[in-house]
Amino acid sequence: MSRITAKAYAKLNLSLDVTGTRPDGYHEMCMLMQSVDLCDEVKINLTRTGEIRVRTNFRFLPSDGRNIAVKAARAFFDVLGEKDLGADITLKKRIPVCAGLGGGSSDAAAVLRALNRMLGAKLSPERLEELGRGLGSDVPFCIRGGTQLAEGRGDELRILPALPDCVFVICKPPFSVSTPELFRHVDERRGHTHPDTEGMLEAIERGELRGVTQRLYNVFEDVPGRHRGAAAEIKSRMLDLGAMGTAMSGTGPSVFGVFENMEQAEAARKALSQRWRDCFAARPAAPEL
Ligand code: C5P
Repeated sequence: MSRITAKAYAKLNLSLDVTGTRPDGYHEMCMLMQSVDLCDEVKINLTRTGEIRVRTNFRFLPSDGRNIAVKAARAFFDVLGEKDLGADITLKKRIPVCAGLGGGSSDAAAVLRALNRMLGAKLSPERLEELGRGLGSDVPFCIRGGTQLAEGRGDELRILPALPDCVFVICKPPFSVSTPELFRHVDERRGHTHPDTEGMLEAIERGELRGVTQRLYNVFEDVPGRHRGAAAEIKSRMLDLGAMGTAMSGTGPSVFGVFENMEQAEAARKALSQRWRDCFAARPAAPEL
């Protein structure tokens, strides 16, 4: 197989907690994560040129070795010890960039999964996750996606039962947030609110959507920054439009609401898109390995 088209799903944080700092400079995280069918399309052509190239429809993204999709392909070829292998990668981006939706991480994971399949390399999911760890903290989650608990740097994973049927409406305000700033604010704060991760975990295990939507919470939502006002405004509007619960995803600024069905979600997406350009409706999803 020398050509493949793969889907790279966006991720949402149903909950996000920062529980401490680590000796390696990263933070201890505790997150319930969900992949959804808002996706980038990743096309790969295998070549024998030894070169890895990427083209994308987002012109501001790098197309050289700084692109995480290129780094993923390089890491994969290095593991196989294949110096002559190359790849032409085309990324059709739909997931907003720098949005807290894991777009880059998911592209990297899709490249690892696709190359594993194309080359019949039979690396285990755990081995792919290990490769992903070197590329970014969210890449390991994106290998298997679905619903997972992520701890440690975000790369200690436990696969959970799929979420009950529901629809997410995702809304991205038109600015980006500095990740180091957010972590700095959380480090400086004492006695802040934590999400009820245990309660949400139990609700997921029992398949109770209401128990999940009541507990959506991200510790970055409340720290100072431009995202805070925008998140509050979007969340309040989503609740007015019938959302069962809302939260910011990752380091923001994207906010999502959970709706019972596509009809409600589509109506909410339409209403929100009058004010915010980047609005999407998406269902829970999991990639094929
Ligand atoms: O691993 P990744 O490149 O996604 O991380 C981006 C930045 O987020 C890191 O440089 C670090 O500032 C912060 N981070 C952290 N602790 C984590 C994950 C990310 O401090 N567990």
